[in-house]
Amino acid sequence: MAAEPEALRLGVVHGPNLNLLGRREPEVYGRSTLADVNDRIRALAEELGVEVEEFQASGEGELIDRIHDMAARVDGFLVNAGAYTHTSVALLDALVGVGRPFVEVHLSNVHAREEFRRRSLLAPRAVGVVVGFGVESYLLGLRGLALHLREGRRPGRSDRGGP
Ligand code: DQA
Repeated sequence: MAAEPEALRLGVVHGPNLNLLGRREPEVYGRSTLADVNDRIRALAEELGVEVEEFQASGEGELIDRIHDMAARVDGFLVNAGAYTHTSVALLDALVGVGRPFVEVHLSNVHAREEFRRRSLLAPRAVGVVVGFGVESYLLGLRGLALHLREGRRPGRSDRGGP
């Protein structure tokens, strides 16, 4: 009998200031705390049969070190890099450098806010990007990443005969 395929393992990366969720600009980011977000992610992960390992860090260097370390254990990353999304070549290099696919997520719709939030240094190398759905952005991103890793394709592309 064939062995059960190993469960996918995904790293969830929460960047700067996301530890303040729940009390940080609730009109923009909602009232869920980071613990609530992680609980929702874990519940969905269980449903999807994937394992998740999450962490939050506010320093760029710490985020990079943790990504390097985690890459040995995970198949891909779900990333909300907070403000570093818009500024950090080093974080982009870390994600690309470890060679694991990643999905970028944001709670808020970054395109409906200040001009500087419209640019993401990570997006061109991401499998996909989900913005503007609050906590659901993480859940949609998790589904997309699992689909991508399991089926080796970009969600939404394969059935349309497009590139
Ligand atoms: C954010 C959007 C970023 O522009 C901001 O700096 C954050 C949170 C979001 O989830 O909406 O810290 O990544």
